[in-house]
Amino acid sequence: MSNPILQLQNIHRHFFQGGEDLHILKGVNLEIQAGETVSLVGASGAGKSTLLHITGLLEKANEGDVMIDGVSCNGLSDIKRTRIRRNEIGFVYQFHHLLPEFTALENVVMPQMIAGVGGNKARKRAEELLEKMGLAERLTHRPAQLSGGEQQRVAIARALANRPKLLLADEPTGNLDETTGGEVLNILLDLAREEGTAALLATHNTSFAKRTASCVILKDGKLHKGVKMGA
Ligand SMILES: Nc1ncnc2c1ncn2[C@@H]1O[C@H](COP(=O)(O)OP(=O)(O)OP(=O)(O)O)[C@@H](O)[C@H]1O
Ligand SMILES: [Mg+2]
Repeated sequence: MSNPILQLQNIHRHFFQGGEDLHILKGVNLEIQAGETVSLVGASGAGKSTLLHITGLLEKANEGDVMIDGVSCNGLSDIKRTRIRRNEIGFVYQFHHLLPEFTALENVVMPQMIAGVGGNKARKRAEELLEKMGLAERLTHRPAQLSGGEQQRVAIARALANRPKLLLADEPTGNLDETTGGEVLNILLDLAREEGTAALLATHNTSFAKRTASCVILKDGKLHKGVKMGA
């Protein structure tokens, strides 16, 4: 069997703030395989975003290791961590963070060009992704000319543009109404499964959490297996 795409091994994170030692993550372990979707739930302040930042190599754990497709990232230089982040990991946030002066298409082309993909190829991939997102008629719209759900679908297309092995999403539907959020989530999950992307999504919405293949709960600094009511 091939390596899991993501392995978190005994992740600890402390924040030293105002003379206090806040021990937020207390030995987190997790494995996600290619094409597997996992939701991450937990109370506000439990440490979900912190865990996603560490997993996405944006922050370092105080202890433990993040393995991306079998590569131990803990001891790597910042340059190597940045390269892995750029090539292997896609991010979706609660707010879309699209570039306002560029069109939907350009926002999805851009990360590919930064990664060295040629213009025609990048454009073709962007068009394909946006079509799958139901945005074929919105390619030349700027973010301000798109609805919230459409903006978020462009942000998902952008995150998947470079075919990352791992997709990390922090409340990707948190800014949308229930129906639109549900639709956006379905598109995200379908596409991740189709492309064989491993996905870890933080959400407050427990009905959304049931749609992923598995669910983990972050409580008291550790992950607990969530109860699944059908995938
Ligand atoms: N840079 C920091 N310095 C000090 N404390 C921090 C820092 N970042 C996060 N924390 C603390 O760590 C805890 C976890 O924060 P985090 O943002 O990971 O929670 P969360 O589970 O994502 O919450 P929410 O559901 O509200 O988004 C919080 O109590 C927060 O105050
Ligand atoms: Mg958070």
